[in-house]
Parts: sequence; C-alpha cells; structure tokens
Amino acid sequence: MQAPHPTPGQPGVPFSTSYAALAVAVVMLLVSLLVHELSAYSKRRSMPPGPFRWPLIGNALQVPQVHPWLTCSRWARVYGDIFYLDALGQHIVVINSATVARELLDRRSSIYSGRPHLIMAGDLAGYDRTLIILPYGDEFRQQRRLISQTLSISTIGQYHNIQEAAARRLVLGVIDDSSPLEGQIKMNIASIIMLVTYGYTVKSTEDVFVERAIKVMENFTLAEMPGTWLVDMIPQLKYFPSWMPGLTFHKTAKAWRKLLYTTSRTLYQWSKEHSNNGTAHLPNLCASVLANADGKATLQLEESLMWVALAVLSGGLDTNISTILSFILAMLHYPDVQKKAQAEIDAVVGSERLPQISDRPSLPYIRSLIAEVYRWLPAGPLGAPHALDEDDVYDGYFLPKGSIIIPNVWYMLHDPNIYPEPDVFKPERYGGSDIEMKKVTDIAFGFGRRACPGFYFAEGTIFSIVMTVLATCDIMPIVDDHGQEIIPDIKYPTKAVLCPEDVKCIFRPRSEKAKSALIHSTTSIL
Ligand code: HEM
Repeated sequence: MQAPHPTPGQPGVPFSTSYAALAVAVVMLLVSLLVHELSAYSKRRSMPPGPFRWPLIGNALQVPQVHPWLTCSRWARVYGDIFYLDALGQHIVVINSATVARELLDRRSSIYSGRPHLIMAGDLAGYDRTLIILPYGDEFRQQRRLISQTLSISTIGQYHNIQEAAARRLVLGVIDDSSPLEGQIKMNIASIIMLVTYGYTVKSTEDVFVERAIKVMENFTLAEMPGTWLVDMIPQLKYFPSWMPGLTFHKTAKAWRKLLYTTSRTLYQWSKEHSNNGTAHLPNLCASVLANADGKATLQLEESLMWVALAVLSGGLDTNISTILSFILAMLHYPDVQKKAQAEIDAVVGSERLPQISDRPSLPYIRSLIAEVYRWLPAGPLGAPHALDEDDVYDGYFLPKGSIIIPNVWYMLHDPNIYPEPDVFKPERYGGSDIEMKKVTDIAFGFGRRACPGFYFAEGTIFSIVMTVLATCDIMPIVDDHGQEIIPDIKYPTKAVLCPEDVKCIFRPRSEKAKSALIHSTTSIL
C-alpha cells in the first residue's frame, strides 16, 4: 500500500492530482477563451466590409453628425451594397441597394422589423408607446391593424374632399398672405390630418392642439437624435437619481413625457366626446375604430387607438411638409418642368374646373414629377432604422442580433448607375412608366412590415396640393430691391426628416378665373 501524500488544504486529495486538476482547469479556461476569441474574430472577419474601426470605440468618431446620408453614400461607393459600422460596440449595418433591402427587410421581415431600443426617447420620454418606435410584437400588430382599417387603399377615397379643400385653401392663403410659407403649409397639412384622425377642425395657425402636437414631435426629434444623450451611450445612467450633477436629462425627459401623455389623451378624449355628440367631423379614424368595435371597445383597444392616432399625426406632418417644400424648390429651380406640368393639366382638366384627385390616372407627367420629388430630396434620407432580432447571414456576411439596420435611402435614390445625373430634377427619367415610379416610392416609403402605413393617404394629400398649385398659379421666385430674382439655395438642416429651409416664393395666379375658382371652391369642411 502506498503512503498517502500530505494533504495541504484538501484532505484526502493527493498533491499531484490537485495540481493536475488546476492545470487542466487553467488549460480549459485558456482554450475556451481562445475558442471564444477565434469565433469572435472569425465573425468579425465575416462581417460586411466598412471603414477602419478603432479598438473599443470602433467608428464612433467617424459617424458623422452633419448630413450623415452623404458620408454613408461616400462609403457606399467604396464598400458596396452593404457595409458595417461599430459605434462603441453597437453594431450598425447600412444597406445601400434596393436589392439587398428587399432581401433583408422585406423577405426576412420576421426578424428585421424591430426598432432600436432608445433609452432617452423610449424608456424615459415615453415615445416607445407610439408606433414609430414601438418594438415589434402584438401591440405593434394591433396598432398597424387600426391604421389599415381606416387608411387603406379601399377606404382612403372618403377623405379626398378634405384633401382637395385643404389644398385649395393653402393655395389661396399663399396668394393673399405674405406670412411664411412653411407655417401655411404646416397649418393646412395639420388640418387634413387632424380632421381625418380626430375629426377636429384646425382654427388658425396658432391652434393650440396643433401647436402642442408639433411640440411633441419636435421633442421626439431631439430625443431620438443619435449621439446627443449620454444615457443612450451609458444606459445604466437612467437608474441614477436625477439630483446628481450633470444628469439633467431626467428633468427634460419628465417634461417631454408629460406633454406627450397629456397631448395624446386630450386629443383622443376630444375626438371621442365630439364624435359621440355629433360635433366632430365624420368619418375620422378614432370614431371609425370605436364604431367598428360596436360599443365593446376594451380599455386596451382605446389605449392603442389613442397612441396610434398620435402616430398618424406625427408620421404624416413633417414628411408631408418636407415633400411640399421640396416640390416648390424644384419648381423654382426647374421652371421648364413647371411649364410642362401645367400644360398637361390644362390639356386634361381644362380651365373650367379645378383638378381633383380622381384626375390622377390621366396625369402621367404629374405622377412622374411627384415621384421625382420623392427621389430628388427624399423626406427620410436614411429611412427609419430597423433592428435585427436574431443573428443572420447574408451573402456570406455575419449580421449579429441587435444590429441597427439603416436603409440608405439617399444612396438608393441617387445611385448614378440607376439614376444618371442623380442631382438633376428630371421627371422624364421614368419615361411615363408607373413601374419605374413605383421603384422610387417602394424605397422612399420604407420597407417590410414597417413600411409607411400612410402611403395612400400621403399620395392623396401630395397629389391634391401639387396639381392645385400648378393648375391655378405660377410658382415664382421673390425679387430683391433691385428687381433681381432670388432662387433659394437647396439646403436643409440635419434632421431625421429632410426639410428644405428658407424656401421663399410667390404664387402668382395664372388668371383671374383661376383665382375666383379657388375662392368659390372654399367649403365648410375645414
Ligand atoms: C410624403 C409623405 C411620407 C413619407 C415620405 C413617409 C415615409 C415613411 C418612412 C420612410 C417610414 C419608415 C418605414 C420603415 O421603417 O421602413 C414611415 C413610417 C411611418 N409613417 Fe410615413 N411617410 C409619409 C407620410 C405619412 C403619413 C401621411 C402618415 C399618416 C398615416 C404616416 C405614418 C407613418 C407611421 C405611423 C410610420 C411608422 C410605421 C411603423 O413603424 O410601423 N406617414 N413613413
């Protein structure tokens, strides 16, 4: 029998055995670390190409704050259809071609329909209840269903008279009133959306409901701005008390949340009460959903409806304003296009009546012109970010779960191989083909299960404004004190919604008859 070895610390366990076990454990640990590193390395290696990444911070310092779509488009020219960025460990995948966007965001939409988790805008300021950043899931499906019940291609016709009336009031307003164009556009677009969503009639440019709703949206734009909030970079900060120095975001978020909740509740309650007692305009989205529920609307349904109504207002306002301002800018820079479009309206509609949305099928040049506005200055140059819910592989590239997926709409619509001379405004490029125009709207209005639910509604609003302006007025530059025409530059601040700034112009009636047709068309709808 062998004498037992001494037993330091481990009675009964031989020394050599305990060292051997330790050594095996260390080796196993090292091997597993190595395997982990190698697998992370091979995943990193198989990620899409992209600009050089610094250790720890990745591309954080290269992600541009000003007009990021232009930098992303420069990178698209270097790295191709898909590239990868890392911002402090956050995976970002940028898609630069419609083909890749279709494959990932449309065909694989079951895993590409999330939204990035925003601490400031979502958790703290409360916007995570609104469809625009609502996570993918049951509540998302419920809210989308509520919109499609009322704003689908088959139901949208019931709102055409509102859109036409607002278009006419807008044109008449700009002819007679020298107040800033943007304010007048905002008021009329808000009128359309408030009537359709809540049955509420906007009273003036200072309407308190509209002002509050606009403030809610401005706050959202600030809250979701990438790189602005420390708490979005260090999420643990949200648990720190608000009195700690430097944590002013708590106070800001609290004020924004309060305004968001009171605005959505007040507007919804107004609609419910006034639709019931017959003093709201019908049909409207809130009343229609409640009527469909036939008196059995649950609290949960009403809560979803309240939020979805606000999402319709916020989704539709800035995007429409941006599109109309871009249209006016295009007409100032391309007067020949304006003339050609007017000639088409004159030939089809004549001068005895004002155009209507039902004229759309007979006006292919106007349809091309509008598609060209969406392409030339897309309202969402980087669309809206999607989030990837599971690991995925595309074309041999590894795309990790949790990646933010950015559709580079700007590049897709300015790729010179697809749209030669992309910065030139040229409706002729579609050759009158609706299939070619649809390729633009399929990109400009987003992808997959998150594609814009307001597309048909927007189509009516934009079409009625464009054709009413062109049928009745010449869009002219303003002149300076020396009689020189001032054509506004094509410039826009960096925001999620691209909106041209300082667009000034004159709407000069094309004839007295055109102006009087506008005056006589004003209705009591608005
Ligand atoms: C010219 C006008 C418009 C443009 C260019 C536009 C564009 C877009 C885009 C690019 C998205 C993101 C899609 C994606 O995530 O892939 C979006 C989402 C959305 N849009 Fe529009 N939109 C317009 C008008 C409207 C209107 C009139 C409404 C009102 C119903 C609306 C409501 C929404 C909503 C609620 C979302 C969020 C959908 C979701 O996250 O599931 N939009 N829109």
